[in-house]
Amino acid sequence: MDGPTSLPKSYAPKSHRPKPSGQSAAPETVSVRPLLLKPQWMNGLSERLLVSHYENNYGGALRRLNAIRARLATLDVANTPVFEINGLKREELIAAGSVVLHEIYFESLGGHGDNRPTGLTEPPAGLAEALERDFGSVTAWRAEFTAMAKALAGGSGWVILAWSDRLGRLVNQWAADHAHGLPGASPILALDMYEHAYHLDFGAKAAAYVDQVMENLNWARIGARYRQAIGEAAGEGELFLPFGAPAQDEARISAEELKAALGDGDRPFLLDLCLPRDLPRRTDMLAGASMHAPAALPDWIETLPRDRPIAVYCICGFQVSGTAVTELRRRGYDARALVGGITAWHAIGGATVPLDTSTYEATP
Ligand SMILES: [Fe+2]
Repeated sequence: MDGPTSLPKSYAPKSHRPKPSGQSAAPETVSVRPLLLKPQWMNGLSERLLVSHYENNYGGALRRLNAIRARLATLDVANTPVFEINGLKREELIAAGSVVLHEIYFESLGGHGDNRPTGLTEPPAGLAEALERDFGSVTAWRAEFTAMAKALAGGSGWVILAWSDRLGRLVNQWAADHAHGLPGASPILALDMYEHAYHLDFGAKAAAYVDQVMENLNWARIGARYRQAIGEAAGEGELFLPFGAPAQDEARISAEELKAALGDGDRPFLLDLCLPRDLPRRTDMLAGASMHAPAALPDWIETLPRDRPIAVYCICGFQVSGTAVTELRRRGYDARALVGGITAWHAIGGATVPLDTSTYEATP
């Protein structure tokens, strides 16, 4: 149930890539993945709902998984009661399933680049043909998928579109406890039917939520995931990069790497960038950060240190921090953009302090 292996290294689980010297989290740590959707620009799904879901439920599962894995790593299995082993391994599976399914859910939503989702567009040709082959038509697939989701109203669980090599077809499957999966099948699309996924916006109206999710699907990424599952993926990793983030590995820093670096003696300088229109979306910041307006760069760039690394963050790690980091690096600064922004920082449980705008340029 892993994501596309064509993902860039920095977005792959940490255990699958080399550790940057002096800035690694524990080897057992599973890294947070950034939001690819723009939470403020979705169709009928609020930023409050999506960010709460990402930070608290996805982030909560990730933090739980890492805590369980850390506990397991210290366990003397020969002298541990079986009920403790059973409990930890069961909870590990549930947390890992929740992490992976939430990542597929969030990555399956959102617009292209800087645009809103365009609504009920159709799947790309290869996936559309497979849906027709296996369900009769895209419409018939959609009818079954959404009916399964709506049937979970008042309950909970996932509805998953998965590719099964053994069955030689795409299947719609139900999953409970984040832990059901058709063995050997690869999830292509996952729809979260836990109440936390919709209650803030829709109350108990789960069916309305299902219809709204279908208007926010990102078929390009779902199609790429399908091609990955059938072994036909080709250079589509950029679809899974946050829009506007720096392309080079060395120009990015993960939330886990930043957390580790802030605990070292050689702390990076923290630069918090926010567009004026986005200020109302902010309530907190990383302790010690200086907050500035991107457009006022000539006013604040000379205040940055040249002898220390600089970690630059914005809300979600899209083009606000990405553009600034590219410019700072061009001017010789050792700047890196925080992958996923302060939203990913929240998801790993990173500490923050109340927002301080005293260094923010009033009229950039
Ligand atoms: Fe969820």
